[in-house]
Amino acid sequence: MAMARAGGGGTCCSCLCAFLVCIGVAVLIYWATYQPHRIRAAVESAELSNLTVVVRNGTADGGGSGGVVYYRLAVNVTMYNPSGRAGPRMSTTVVAIDFDRSGGGGVAVAGDVAAELDKEIKGSGGGGEVGFEMVIDARVRYKLGFIPIRARPKVRCPVRIPVKAERRGGGGGGGGVTGFLRSGDRCTVKY
Ligand SMILES: *[C@@H]1O[C@H](CO)[C@@H](O)[C@H](O)[C@H]1NC(C)=O
Ligand SMILES: *[C@@H]1O[C@H](CO)[C@@H](O)[C@H](O)[C@H]1NC(C)=O
Ligand SMILES: *[C@@H]1O[C@H](CO)[C@@H](O)[C@H](O)[C@H]1NC(C)=O
Repeated sequence: MAMARAGGGGTCCSCLCAFLVCIGVAVLIYWATYQPHRIRAAVESAELSNLTVVVRNGTADGGGSGGVVYYRLAVNVTMYNPSGRAGPRMSTTVVAIDFDRSGGGGVAVAGDVAAELDKEIKGSGGGGEVGFEMVIDARVRYKLGFIPIRARPKVRCPVRIPVKAERRGGGGGGGGVTGFLRSGDRCTVKY
């Protein structure tokens, strides 16, 4: 009786095993097709300057509370291509990205965001830290055998830059908060 039950369980198990092997093979094929072509990205260095947060109190223009952030951010991102087939010329590229919002109207943000950022900058004691996420829309082209494939991976880099207030020189304006980061932190790349 026990034997019969065991036998029945055996066929069911082998059926399940075959199913799992099928799934496994499918996953392996998918991985072999896409994984070797995945680019990797890391933040090499980041420089934040002229960071100024203006928190408004909503009473002046009656438009509710809000804030304006002025900054200039320069980031060097290393793109690493692990597959020789995906772009045979170069395996590592440094991409320099420059966001300059230190002039003009700056960036308008919600009042609580401005207040929070202001708090982060001041930090506790000596200096603060500014954290944000940088999102890059990349475009990748590669060949799979003879088939050209285009992809638009989204690269997300979490960045935390320690900042310190700059000594204000004579002549008002300018200054703001600066920070420099040398990290090598990995970014996530999503296709
Ligand atoms: C990015 O790299 C270039 C070239 O090496 C360098 O001149 C620049 O200072 C770097 N930028 C940052 C933010 O580190
Ligand atoms: C707005 O003004 C009030 C009174 O001066 C002050 O207590 C409050 O902190 C201000 N809010 C912001 C976000 O600056
Ligand atoms: C940015 O900061 C530098 C150095 O602190 C200063 O000389 C310059 O005037 C600032 N630029 C702006 C647009 O605020």
